Amino acid sequence: MSKQPFILRPGNPVFDEGLAFARFLDTAAEGFFRILLGRRMAEIFAQAYTKPGNEYSFENVLFAVQEERITGMASGFTAEQQHGFPANPLKACEGYPHLRATIIGLPVSPMFHALEDLDDGDFYLASLAVDEDRRGQGIGSALIAAMEERAQATDSKRFTIALAAKNEGAQRLYARHGFEVSEKWPRFLYSERFGLLKMAKPL
Ligand SMILES: CC(C)(COP(=O)(O)OP(=O)(O)OC[C@H]1O[C@@H](n2cnc3c(N)ncnc32)[C@H](O)[C@@H]1OP(=O)(O)O)[C@@H](O)C(=O)NCCC(=O)NCCS
Repeated sequence: MSKQPFILRPGNPVFDEGLAFARFLDTAAEGFFRILLGRRMAEIFAQAYTKPGNEYSFENVLFAVQEERITGMASGFTAEQQHGFPANPLKACEGYPHLRATIIGLPVSPMFHALEDLDDGDFYLASLAVDEDRRGQGIGSALIAAMEERAQATDSKRFTIALAAKNEGAQRLYARHGFEVSEKWPRFLYSERFGLLKMAKPL
């Protein structure tokens, strides 16, 4: 695939963009949200995306666009913003997806708490993904750099991310951007196959 020029732009509160957001979010989470919420996953996230003041809001999002196609996404927010977010909008979804999320989500909820437990002064890069056929062109790096600029425009002291320990490609990428491993989870039973890493960079 030849390199295509791209631009970065903020998210807008539009449902169709929300569907694209959901797709990237699920890619960043290695398909976990589709398993958690089933067929309505994209619609549930797209609805949250169009509203301000929540974890999945358009306000937190940057997109990469190539020839009018959205090919990459990053989202992030400060610890202070996170403390003001309402209860996770996924909990507000009704019917079968709610039941399914409750049952499947229960055993992994400690993991979510570990991931989302931000220290004061943190700016959290909550998700980053690029379409598979557009990887290796610098889009991921540009999204990280642009999110870092957003982080610097706040009072944040650290830029943080969390990722699967087995995602070595992404770890290399973050290390190149100056991130270092700050925490391993679970602390006492950490494994490189199943564990999670938090990485951080001072701002
Ligand atoms: C990680 C990711 C966002 C990088 O985006 P990108 O646009 O390819 O990034 P860049 O072109 O700026 O940099 C390429 C680097 O990304 C990393 N990378 C990880 N997976 C990759 C892939 N499938 N193809 C190419 N690069 C990949 C590598 O470190 C590579 O650098 P290298 O030269 O050391 O191998 C992208 O691979 C992706 O969407 N992966 C799936 C989701 C994910 O893992 N997100 C991060 C965890 S939240």
